[in-house]
Amino acid sequence: MWWEKAVFYEIYLPSFADSNGDGIGDFNGIKERLPYLKQLGIDALWLTPFYPSPKIDNGYDVSDYCDVDRQYGTLQDLEELIQVAKKSGMHVIIDVVFNHTSTQHPWFQSALQSTEDKKRDWYIWRDRPNNWESFFGGSAWEYDEKSQQYYYHSFAKEQADLNWHNPAVKHAIFQILDFWIKKGIDGFRFDVINNLTVSQDFKDNPVDETRRQIHQNDVNQPGVLAILKEINAYIKNCNPELFTVAEISSDDLKCIEQYVGAELFDTAFNFNLGSQEKLNLNYFASQYEAMNTAAEKLPTLFFNSHDMSRSWERLADKNVDVYYLLIVLLTINHGITFLFQGEELGLGDFLAANLTDIRDIQAKNKYFELLPSDGEVRAIAAANLVNRDRSRGMLPFNIKGWIGSAKVNESEKVIMAGYKALIALRHKEGPFLPLEKIQAENDLLSYWSGDIHVILNFSEKPRQIELLEDRPWQTLWSHNGPYLAKNKIYLPERAGWIGKRN
Ligand code: GLC
Ligand code: CA
Repeated sequence: MWWEKAVFYEIYLPSFADSNGDGIGDFNGIKERLPYLKQLGIDALWLTPFYPSPKIDNGYDVSDYCDVDRQYGTLQDLEELIQVAKKSGMHVIIDVVFNHTSTQHPWFQSALQSTEDKKRDWYIWRDRPNNWESFFGGSAWEYDEKSQQYYYHSFAKEQADLNWHNPAVKHAIFQILDFWIKKGIDGFRFDVINNLTVSQDFKDNPVDETRRQIHQNDVNQPGVLAILKEINAYIKNCNPELFTVAEISSDDLKCIEQYVGAELFDTAFNFNLGSQEKLNLNYFASQYEAMNTAAEKLPTLFFNSHDMSRSWERLADKNVDVYYLLIVLLTINHGITFLFQGEELGLGDFLAANLTDIRDIQAKNKYFELLPSDGEVRAIAAANLVNRDRSRGMLPFNIKGWIGSAKVNESEKVIMAGYKALIALRHKEGPFLPLEKIQAENDLLSYWSGDIHVILNFSEKPRQIELLEDRPWQTLWSHNGPYLAKNKIYLPERAGWIGKRN
């Protein structure tokens, strides 16, 4: 399928490219940047939510699934963007947020009218709350004065969870999928899709020894897979070439992989790797090992998204060579590559200096939670640790922004050249077979994929390795001057080599 050796590029709409100077990225801005993305080697775009939204969670609170927010342009502008992208050979997938709607959505507004309303049961209501916590902090239940009931929201209180046990919800969602399929999109990214159903006995969640809640009864519930199979069947019946990728809110590989397979999603985001706080090669190797045994489960390869600190800071610790070697793991590897806007330029985080700089609701909640006990300075520092704005800084080719700018990297040209070369190599040699002989030792990582051998020396010391093959090697790519002598390879510090057996 077309996605197997593809490189996807996530566009966080408001921060990407602003065409009319109002400081907010838009469809026309993306259209103007298509040649830039094309020369980088991008095969597919993932557009984050562009629907009308009160923007409590910056678009992940949708108030109309079949329209666009005017701040990004018109529906026609989006249609044109899709057409132009496709003409230049790029696929377009869109983000769909079906776990919850904005409380401003007409469905929820209708449900608020009375307990007898036809849409009442499209949401989750209880007379009493249980102890379930929202993923943005605080109780997941909000009181509705009028009906004296509580509605459930696994994220912000302005994001009410849909009741997927009601088949009418599913039918409404199918119509929305149809609407976008007819517009010519090539697939969907499903937001927090393992949250779709909650346990029907509403038992309290347990807590761990540090009194943190274990989300046992509100995510990954029995019955969710059956619904997801129906959704996927619906899409694939329309067209088997439509691609589906799931966001599973977990970094546990076993949990993530349950959602991938012939009747389920084509793939899911591998947060077991992508969202790691530190570069730990032994851990990486163990995860690759596990990700490459289930042949029918095609993994995703990414180190960045709109929800986490940029890998330039988080994984590479601002070291260009380390960052460079990480590109190999993203591209010359078994799985589908997902880049996030600006990582090809090595952009750094945008850090809020005070509350007025913070846009992310999760960071705001943290700030207000800690302010009374810890004071301003500590509250800001703690908020920044969970602040998803870090990766959402405005891209540098914009003059102004709704948010501050992402930190520019002085080595951006070198980094960009690295991405281009490795994406081109991926297109030439991929798709890559599952990895074999994965080894990590003293910060040296090596693996095989078919006839391709990758050796990356992340350490600060030169290393010498025996190549256990005496066939001649063709060097496909190298970094920091490794050299081959007979069946030995010598790698200076932070050097990398990709070879192919002839
Ligand atoms: C996903 C999105 C995130 C959003 C959340 C709730 O995790 O990536 O940005 O806040 O879902 O919709
Ligand atoms: Ca704009």
